[in-house]
Amino acid sequence: MAESQHRSQHRSNSGSHRGRRPKRTIDKVRLAAFEAMSEITGQGAYANLVGPAVINHHQLSGRDAALATELINGTCRALGTYEMIIEEASGRDTRDLDPDVVDVLCLGTHQLLGMRTPPHAAIDTTVNLAGAVVGERVVGLVNAILRKITRHDLDGWTSILAEGLTGADELAVRHLHPRWIGHAYADLLPAEEVGPALAANNVAAVPTLVARPGLSTVEELVTAGATATGPSPYAASYKGNPADLLAVREGRAAVQDAGSQLVATALARAEAPDGWWLDLCAGPGGKAGLLTGLAAERDERLLAVEVAPHRADLVARTLRAHVTARPVTICADGTRPAWPQGRFARVMADVPCSGLGALRRRPESRWRRTPDDVTDLIRLQQDLLHSAVEAAQPGGVIAYVTCSPHADETAGVVEAVLAERSDLELIDAPSLLPEVTDAALGWYVQLWPHRHGTDAMFLALLRRRS
Ligand SMILES: C[S@@+](CC[C@H](N)C(=O)[O-])C[C@H]1O[C@@H](n2cnc3c(N)ncnc32)[C@H](O)[C@@H]1O
Repeated sequence: MAESQHRSQHRSNSGSHRGRRPKRTIDKVRLAAFEAMSEITGQGAYANLVGPAVINHHQLSGRDAALATELINGTCRALGTYEMIIEEASGRDTRDLDPDVVDVLCLGTHQLLGMRTPPHAAIDTTVNLAGAVVGERVVGLVNAILRKITRHDLDGWTSILAEGLTGADELAVRHLHPRWIGHAYADLLPAEEVGPALAANNVAAVPTLVARPGLSTVEELVTAGATATGPSPYAASYKGNPADLLAVREGRAAVQDAGSQLVATALARAEAPDGWWLDLCAGPGGKAGLLTGLAAERDERLLAVEVAPHRADLVARTLRAHVTARPVTICADGTRPAWPQGRFARVMADVPCSGLGALRRRPESRWRRTPDDVTDLIRLQQDLLHSAVEAAQPGGVIAYVTCSPHADETAGVVEAVLAERSDLELIDAPSLLPEVTDAALGWYVQLWPHRHGTDAMFLALLRRRS
């Protein structure tokens, strides 16, 4: 059974389905969802990018757009589980089926088990979709497999899949995660919290806004219809389309998880000398946008560094609204400094990571990631942290941040770097964030969706000794 998801090798008709003429008349919502799934499973596309693109392509709006989004994101979230259910129901390995048929079946399974679609409607529309996008030859097979899937609800199927499993293995299967992620969570949390933590990844995150200091305020966003949500002092939530708000359109506010806001806020609150601030891994610029405003409150400035040119462009675009704060963006490798060493008062190292703390926002990610993704990044994470330390002036403060709670890329990296250097001391980061309780992991901060309603961000604060 396939626990991780990438079907491009098995796809006979490679390339996008977008724009091809289907062989039957089908509703645009399901066609859009199928096209998105085909790009996600076949070409490694991201649901949060391809979803809006197909919705736009088919000119879906309102309830149709919401339905297509739920079909795409919900199917992606449970993809590996749905494949196992399809295998159990059909007695066939999904790798032996046409990948387009598997995509169609996964969409149908989500309607049957994850949505409240009446079974006859879910089966009829899915069979029709199969006939239209694959061909009449698969209609009977799709119909038969879906009928078998109606024999149980989702709990019934996960109970069958979890038979004989215990502990983290069982919890992972019951909460629609690959087993290795269940084990990673079990290593980090008390036993009674592993289930709730995994379950929280199955609930789509409500977009949180940040009111960028110096450019906007939470009060302005509330007046425009948002709600102040905390735990970050700059956070608000808005039920509608964020782009409807003037402050968002003008770049004075933006969509940003409250956890990301908190880790940037903690760096700004730490005691540090005066001077320039550095954001070493800035793309696409979320934290740089907040840090620039916080630096400007002290008449200080930010240098934002990003290695990927298109992401450096995004940073520059994000920072454009901060006209008077005069931040500087450069495209450079954070491990090969093109800036003076030992000069920065505050340094943010928000390093590339596995993203295991942001699974609510990246529906397909849990099935695409592997344990190797964590180990492959550790060397780069350590190099970037060393480089951040080298950039800091004596007494300067360095934030090491990941949007993953995985111990190997959080405390493991910090402890390895601490062991190699004599010019560093750990700072009590939780004491700088009194607005969150239950986030202290010793002197580190570890946020969790099920505890704090934020992404599972990790923060360590370090001071370079004088
Ligand atoms: C977790 S993301 C940063 C998110 C960003 N701080 C924000 O809040 O929007 C990590 C970023 O590091 C960049 N990156 C990866 N390797 C890098 C390197 N050697 N030097 C600088 N940036 C790097 C990636 O391209 C990615 O944009």
